[in-house]
Amino acid sequence: MDNKIKIGVYPGSFDPLTNGHLDIIKRASKLFDKLIVGVLHNDSKKAIFSMEERVALIKKCTSDIPNVEVEFFKGLLVDFVRERNATAIVKGLRAVSDYEYELQMAMLNKHIDKELETIFLMADIQNSFLSSSAVKELAYHGGDISGLVPEVIKEDIVVKLTKPLH
Ligand code: PNS
Repeated sequence: MDNKIKIGVYPGSFDPLTNGHLDIIKRASKLFDKLIVGVLHNDSKKAIFSMEERVALIKKCTSDIPNVEVEFFKGLLVDFVRERNATAIVKGLRAVSDYEYELQMAMLNKHIDKELETIFLMADIQNSFLSSSAVKELAYHGGDISGLVPEVIKEDIVVKLTKPLH
């Protein structure tokens, strides 16, 4: 038995955070001493919410979970994971359709660092259809996103999406 603290990283775009993401964060936080939510800062990937906004929204929803930290990262996920002395990447799996892509990423990350494990948590059945894109689409067209995103950030999302985007 080693006594090192166990750190996990839950990476993603989180544009924006959904109830599906929050469920994974809550469950993964129980598996590690510390869980770092890693928000991808990707200049080439167009996000509706800025990196700062995405981090702030996640912090707002996780402030009551003491062992969760939220940070952004640039570059390779494995480098971020190593820098934080984490031992595992956490990903959520919704449907079989997620599997192929996630398997490829997990294998690639394992190829880069043999010591690194990717742990998959199955999405709760009620979140199995949920995605950030669906939330954005719904909010943009004036649909009700209640129950799809945490209540404390619902208004932030509605305001952002109903404002002219350019
Ligand atoms: O929420 P997403 O968009 O599905 O998250 C994807 C994410 C951030 C996990 C993935 O794009 C990622 O790990 N990006 C960092 C770059 C990287 O390490 N790529 C894999 C090896 S090429």
